[in-house]
Amino acid sequence: MNLTAVEIPETYKIKTLLHQKSYLVNGELKTWNGETSEVYSTISSTEDYKPTLLGSIPTLGKTEALEALDSALGAFDKGQGLWPTMKVEARIKCMEKFVEQMKTKRDEVVKLIMWEIGKTLPDSEKEFDRTVDYIYDTIEDYKQLDRDSAKFEKHGGVYAHIRRGPLGTVLCLGPYNYPLNETFTLLIPALIMGNTVVFKPAKHGVLLISPLLEAFQNSFPKGVVNIIYGRGRVLATPIMESGKVDVLALIGNSKSANALQSAHPKGNRLRMVLGLEAKNPAIVLPDADLDLAVNECIAGTLSFNGQRCTALKVVYVHESVAEEFNRRFSYAVDQLKFGNPWEAGAKLTPLPESDKPAYIQELIDDAQEKGASILNEKGGETTDNFIFPAVLYPVNKDMRVYKEEQFGPVVPVMSFKDIQEPLDDMAESDYGQQVSLFGKNVNTLAPLIDTLVNLVCRVNLNSSCQRGPDVYPFTGRKDSAYGTLSVHDALRSFSIRTFVASKDNAYNKAILNELLDTKASNFISTDYIL
Ligand code: G3H
Repeated sequence: MNLTAVEIPETYKIKTLLHQKSYLVNGELKTWNGETSEVYSTISSTEDYKPTLLGSIPTLGKTEALEALDSALGAFDKGQGLWPTMKVEARIKCMEKFVEQMKTKRDEVVKLIMWEIGKTLPDSEKEFDRTVDYIYDTIEDYKQLDRDSAKFEKHGGVYAHIRRGPLGTVLCLGPYNYPLNETFTLLIPALIMGNTVVFKPAKHGVLLISPLLEAFQNSFPKGVVNIIYGRGRVLATPIMESGKVDVLALIGNSKSANALQSAHPKGNRLRMVLGLEAKNPAIVLPDADLDLAVNECIAGTLSFNGQRCTALKVVYVHESVAEEFNRRFSYAVDQLKFGNPWEAGAKLTPLPESDKPAYIQELIDDAQEKGASILNEKGGETTDNFIFPAVLYPVNKDMRVYKEEQFGPVVPVMSFKDIQEPLDDMAESDYGQQVSLFGKNVNTLAPLIDTLVNLVCRVNLNSSCQRGPDVYPFTGRKDSAYGTLSVHDALRSFSIRTFVASKDNAYNKAILNELLDTKASNFISTDYIL
């Protein structure tokens, strides 16, 4: 499975290193002369395996974190800042300016996504394009939101002009598996609603933000977006401890989210928008179309090597079809091609975390010790940066691979006799994001669907789990999420309803009419943005 330098196409070779020497604070790309951290890819550029050096980033400390926070607070300026008081149309113009520049950086960003996190070329391109679409869709949705608010209501003798306003200052932290897309699904709605932001890129997938820094700098007023580099704990903890952050926006792990939330001295003030871990099950019923179930379970368990919060992380198969499902599924897993991200047809790629193969091996060893076997021939084959997905069967609840979110290439399969078994497991689980249900008979499916929608937030019928399309609600129960994201819901999550009310009398009416005629207020407006 080793790949050598000669196989790297010219366009994708790393010829110059990207040393990110500045961070964005108060509208300035400030040069950093302190400590830096090297950024490596687990993909080798040489025949003998060696991680590839990609560049370096500043290792900022508490002082710089608080400097970025002050900058964001200054730009919000207790609600008086240019950005939170700006006309909606003007904020949209800034966002359009940003996305136009972003589009010109596609090749650079896509190349870095491949090197930094090992995502395939088609999926890296999709991540970029999906993010650009997300920004345009957000702009359109915001216009609609604005049009819906461009009016006065009157109830009980009181006029009201109701809009959604920003919450304040947001700390934004994204995950390494979608370092561009998922981070931007937080950052973009937070910004467009008038909040100011401190953003720290994920632990892997950090250099890919560099090509966009100037666009951030020149598209938004100073201090609105601040981008800092370094260790999450060092930077995010003092920001939270200050008590000055209004929103914690994080896609990642519930342990980090809980630690950051509890660092904030006034929990009641803190809004949270969280996308956390999950252990989405697939349930294969006796009458399921097995070919379809196998194909969807392959995509569900192993797209991007299983490193998706929405990945299928445990497969329940009815005992009557378990043998046949296992045979077809294991065969299909072994057909998946491993290769570097740019290699045509590669479905499995190097893991960005250098310690991941060893962790997955631990899960396999533990499962084998407790009675599971590896069903596929290639399962567990290891190289310097990868471990081939093992299909483990029969898995039971004592095994680590059942309990832990593997977030990598290993597939636990369990068989069940009674549908109550997976339902009980799901009810007991700490997670509640999605499920995939494979079957046909509506008399069986109907009561199951009615139950499953109360255990998770998306039931995928004969389909793998996924976040998209991005207009659909993305959320979860229990430890899987807090708040709902979608193009529309994210705008709501990062804002609050706020309004101007006045008693209906001639005196107030005259004032309101004058406010509308003169267009003196950015908030009070009945203009339609088309
Ligand atoms: O990591 C979790 C992502 O939200 C998954 O998104 O289902 O589109 O791959 P996706």
